[in-house]
Amino acid sequence: MTETIMQQTRRSIVGFVLGLAAVLAPAAMAAGGGALQASNTSLSDQGSLQNGAKLFFNYCSGCHSLKLMRYSRIAEDLGLTEEQVMQNLNFSTAKFGEQVPPSMNPKDGDAWFGKAAPDLSLVARAKAGGPDWIYTYLKSFYLDPSRPLGWNNTTFPNASMPNPLWELQGIQTAVFKPGVDGGDPAFERFELHQPGTLSPAEFDTVARDISNFLRYAAEPAALQRHAIGVWVILFLAFFTFLAWLLKQEYWKDVH
Ligand code: HEC
Repeated sequence: MTETIMQQTRRSIVGFVLGLAAVLAPAAMAAGGGALQASNTSLSDQGSLQNGAKLFFNYCSGCHSLKLMRYSRIAEDLGLTEEQVMQNLNFSTAKFGEQVPPSMNPKDGDAWFGKAAPDLSLVARAKAGGPDWIYTYLKSFYLDPSRPLGWNNTTFPNASMPNPLWELQGIQTAVFKPGVDGGDPAFERFELHQPGTLSPAEFDTVARDISNFLRYAAEPAALQRHAIGVWVILFLAFFTFLAWLLKQEYWKDVH
């Protein structure tokens, strides 16, 4: 039986894609320690970015720095005034034009958590899944008395970070199914052990906005690209219209 070149090509493309998926899927699973949830972040949602910044500075910047980010840049990009940023977001002694330090001395972090809290400037690009990883991570803390601080996390097992948002989210416990053939127990679901001040849906928004802010922080230029992109499209549309008018003009006497 002879195959056409088209059929052969199609077969090899399908084979390649399937092969790639087979290689990448387990890697993605291993990196996330389970399925990641969609964060639905959007860089064009300025309200979400502003809320994410507020939450980041209130709940994360005590331990984490953003060394590649200056307060002045955040103000400019997120449509905030210098006063708003300095009063509501800057809890350190840094000036408006300076980078975001952790409010706490990193050495204390070492002593308290066994590990310094890493800089988060690029974390949304460093993690497979990006903002989805951060989103799922923030939602995956659970009580685990065997851990030094009493917290564990299914997305980042044995992380030395305590749940910074527990008052908002409430306290979760995790239910595991016994492992098959003596293997490790498999995570099944979370149960809300003690409700927080927010409903689960409201907490999802909190996790989304923080993930969105860190996505922006990892690549601030993407905001400008989005903004410029809109003008490029408008320009092209306008130019196409002009070209069409011109064509009408040239051809009007021909027919
Ligand atoms: C009490 C200090 C503390 C607070 C507050 C805190 N973290 Fe952490 N965070 C840590 C430590 C310590 C680690 C390192 C964990 C490890 O490697 O075991 C960490 C790790 C992380 C990581 C993984 C970084 C990497 O490179 O693997 C992310 C993402 C993160 N934190 C996000 C946040 C966010 C978002 C907030 C605020 C909602 C927050 N953290 C609040 C201490 C903190």
